[in-house]
Amino acid sequence: MSDQPQPLVLAVLVSGNGSNLQSIIDRIDAGTINARIACVVSNTPDAHALLRARRHGIPALTHDNSTYGNRKEYDAALVKILAGYGVKLVVLAGFMRILSEVMVTAFPHAIMNIHPALLPAFPGLHAQRQALEYGVRYSGCTVHFVDCGTDTGPIIIQSVVPVMQDDTEESLSRRIQKEEHQVFPEAVRLFAEGKISVNGRHVHLLA
Ligand code: GAR
Repeated sequence: MSDQPQPLVLAVLVSGNGSNLQSIIDRIDAGTINARIACVVSNTPDAHALLRARRHGIPALTHDNSTYGNRKEYDAALVKILAGYGVKLVVLAGFMRILSEVMVTAFPHAIMNIHPALLPAFPGLHAQRQALEYGVRYSGCTVHFVDCGTDTGPIIIQSVVPVMQDDTEESLSRRIQKEEHQVFPEAVRLFAEGKISVNGRHVHLLA
C-alpha cells in the first residue's frame, strides 16, 4: 500500500482555449500535483478546452448558460453537477462568467480563478488592454479565491511581467500567459497538499 494521500478531486471550468487547463493536466500527469480532474465544464459548446480534456480521457461537459433564466439557476445546476463528481476544488481557467453566491457558498475558499492582471488593478474583462491603456510599466497575473465580487477574492499568488513600449494586447497576453502556466498549477499543488490557509483577506502559504 502506498503512503500517498488520496488525490484532490478537481473540476476545471473553462470557456475558451484551455491553455491553463493544459498546464494543470501536464503537472498532474508528471506527478507534481496529487490531484485528479473529475470533469471539465464549459459554458459554451465550442471551447477548445473541451477537446483538450477529451484527449486526456477527462469527462468534458457543456453546461450552457443560454438555457438558464438567471445566474443563480445556472449556478444551482452547476453545484449539482460538481457535487455528483465529488469535487473538492473548483478551478476557473478562463471561465468567462461571474459566479453567484450559490456557487461561492457551496465551495467556500475552494474556488480559484486566474486573472491576467495584478489585482486589484484592472479587474473584469480585457485586463491586458486596460493595463496598456493605463500605461503601467508592469502587469502580470493573479491567482485568487473567488468571492461574490468581480476578481475581489483573497490573493493566493501573483507574478509580475514588464510591459514593453511596443506591446500589443496580444504580445502582453502571451507574456502574462507564460506566467499563468507556472503559478496556477503551483496554487493547485499547494491546495492539494493542504498548504493554504485563509484568514479574512490574507492567504497564508506553508512552505
Ligand atoms: C487566461 O489568460 C486567463 O487569465 C483569462 O482568460 C485566459 C484563458 O486562457 N481569464 C480572464 O480574463 C478572467 N477574467 P486559456 O483558455 O488558454 O487558459
